[in-house]
Amino acid sequence: MKNVVLVLSFFFFLSCKKESATTENPIDKTASATKPSGQELFEGTGNCTACHKPDQKVIGPSLQEIAKIYKEKNGSIVAFLQEQSEPIVDPSQYEVMKTNFAITKQMSEEELKALEDYILGFSQ
Ligand code: HEC
Repeated sequence: MKNVVLVLSFFFFLSCKKESATTENPIDKTASATKPSGQELFEGTGNCTACHKPDQKVIGPSLQEIAKIYKEKNGSIVAFLQEQSEPIVDPSQYEVMKTNFAITKQMSEEELKALEDYILGFSQ
């Protein structure tokens, strides 16, 4: 319970800091003026953190590993999340990842690009 209060006050703090007077959810697709943040999508809407951590494999590969392989192979994470390209990181576990396409296919191109930038930022 204490944690929830902490998290809430953190977001409250963040929203107060914003210059804009809008109270809209930044992930709201109708608010085209506000660019979605990859981190918000990754941790919030997409709930990707349930299986992906920055530097260690949990259920899915680490973000560092994904970023490294996608950079090496010059792959498109946007295309992958639209189910338009094949898995290149760990094809043997693809079935587990596939369930998330229901969420990512609802996301706009811009949101997927933000997610891709966020993930690629973890390459070393
Ligand atoms: C239920 C657990 C789970 C969740 C939730 C999950 N993933 Fe994954 N993800 C996996 C697993 C397992 C793999 C390894 C299989 C693979 O490479 O396709 C993977 C692989 C990936 C890959 C590498 C794909 C490739 O080419 O092999 C990307 C990119 C990715 N996930 C992004 C995401 C994003 C973005 C989200 C949130 C929208 C997400 N994942 C949510 C389990 C998950």
